[in-house]
Amino acid sequence: MNFGLDKMTCIEDLRRVAKFKVPKMFYDYADSGSWTESTYRANSRDFNEIKFRQKVLVDMEGRSLATKMVGQDVTMPVALAPTGLTGMQRADGEILAAKAAEKFGVPFTLSTMSICSIEDVAENTTAPFWFQLYVMRDREFMQNLITRAKEAKCSALVLTADLQILGQRHKDIKNGLSAPPKPTLLNLLNLLCKPEWCWHMLHTERRTFRNIMGHAKNVQDNSSLFSWTAEQFDPRLSWDDVARIKDLWGGKLIIKGIMTAEDAEKAVQHGADAIVVSNHGGRQLDGAPSSIRALPDVVQAAGSQIEVWLDGGITTGQDILRAWALGARGVMIGRAFLYGLGAYGEDGVRRALEILYKEMDLSMAFTGCRNIEEVTRDILVKGTYPVPEGA
Ligand SMILES: Cc1cc2nc3c(=O)[nH]c(=O)nc-3n(C[C@H](O)[C@H](O)[C@H](O)COP(=O)(O)O)c2cc1C
Repeated sequence: MNFGLDKMTCIEDLRRVAKFKVPKMFYDYADSGSWTESTYRANSRDFNEIKFRQKVLVDMEGRSLATKMVGQDVTMPVALAPTGLTGMQRADGEILAAKAAEKFGVPFTLSTMSICSIEDVAENTTAPFWFQLYVMRDREFMQNLITRAKEAKCSALVLTADLQILGQRHKDIKNGLSAPPKPTLLNLLNLLCKPEWCWHMLHTERRTFRNIMGHAKNVQDNSSLFSWTAEQFDPRLSWDDVARIKDLWGGKLIIKGIMTAEDAEKAVQHGADAIVVSNHGGRQLDGAPSSIRALPDVVQAAGSQIEVWLDGGITTGQDILRAWALGARGVMIGRAFLYGLGAYGEDGVRRALEILYKEMDLSMAFTGCRNIEEVTRDILVKGTYPVPEGA
């Protein structure tokens, strides 16, 4: 395997290097879906079925992918999705990814279940980032999280609506996923093969869930942290809570995890500024449709009122263009940046963004468009893309 960053020409290259460098339990944590993983696979497969219409002899100079997401300028319509345990793909992973996003001009979203805390990321970056909220049974802890995100000048709150209970990923159970890894014989043998990861990890103090440790009551050490976390996702979360969260937050609210027109309408009624069509990267309800298939219905229901974005299965800039053509005003990427991070740290995340940008820009040009704002469904071949139900 050639390990030079300049030889990384697609996200798949970064995935392979990440698999080589990242301990098995954390690589598997990223590269997995729930149960049979059918939705996980469908997310990327369904993109490939959508074909482009080539358009030739059009002036292609002066192209731009720049636009806005919830009023914020972005170099391309992409935000880094919230991902738990990012600081286990690479030491200080959240800080590194946030720095790469800031330099590239796209938003970074910090997960509640991050290794680096809200304060860690704020101290090490200058651009405002977004904060993703999981609603916990301990409402005081949740309110504190919102206050901390405000104090850190986060510019949007992403409320994840599809994880009141946790989907099962077989590999995480089999690998005994924990942060940091437990010193079992198998883990130690695996870590011996990951010297670069270990070297970086030995040079940071950030090795556990720092948004929680020291902030939640009755959590003093790793064992109490794990039992606390397992019990804390609040299965009672409902639409009634959204207004209260919006009030507490007082800024832009993005609801993530919408898969149907009905839920999209509710999100509009409850004051969301944007929604993300998402099946959590195929990690929650296995057997749900891919997010690109769910997109047209949601766009039809809510696209004229709020921004509709999408995540799930984006492995190329062409996928971003396809989603945009079908009405998504932005996308979030999860694994695509995590693989870059695990492979090369901050440089790898930058590389992932460069790859996606280039693929999107060139594909837009091949379809005869110079500005992303001009791109519509017309760049796609009829019959190859999903349409709203009943259309
Ligand atoms: C390793 C991993 C951890 C994730 N953790 C979170 C999380 O903490 N909060 C959240 O809202 N979504 C989480 N997600 C879902 C992502 O935000 C996003 O919906 C998904 O990754 C998009 O699919 P993609 O990875 O195919 O791009 C996670 C996804 C992955 C792969």
